Amino acid sequence: MSRRLDGGEEAEVPAGPAPEQQISDLVEKAERAAAKAYAPYSNYLVGAVVRMRDGREFEGVNVENAAYPLGICAERAAITAAVAAGCRPGDLEAIGISASPCGGCRQWLHEFRFERVGFRRADGTVATYAPAELLPESWDLPA
Ligand code: THU
Repeated sequence: MSRRLDGGEEAEVPAGPAPEQQISDLVEKAERAAAKAYAPYSNYLVGAVVRMRDGREFEGVNVENAAYPLGICAERAAITAAVAAGCRPGDLEAIGISASPCGGCRQWLHEFRFERVGFRRADGTVATYAPAELLPESWDLPA
């Protein structure tokens, strides 16, 4: 793909991977990240990788706590890392997760307006959805 720059010259801009390929790459990265999870209570290791439109990627893992409700999911950890680097809703293109996102994380995926959400199904296939498909009739704070 080429794009005309402001200065008038033509430059080659690398095309990003096709959406399906991008999602399966992110899911595989998420699965590798999951090895770093801190989940001594559930022993259920989850990884997530978010990709910004500018190409930057951030990973997250679930981090549990002896006070069980204080743990954080991998998806929210990854989004939090991106936000700390300056990311805001609309900046995130895709997320790959090693497992299906929980209900609370679906609300976060909605908030950040991801284009695509991919995760590994229990049968080994990769699922790809838009956030609205994962959270129909979603709730927003009234204006
Ligand atoms: N978990 C995630 O990290 N993401 C999800 O979407 C589902 C659940 C974590 C939370 C907890 O540490 C463990 O999985 C078991 O519930």
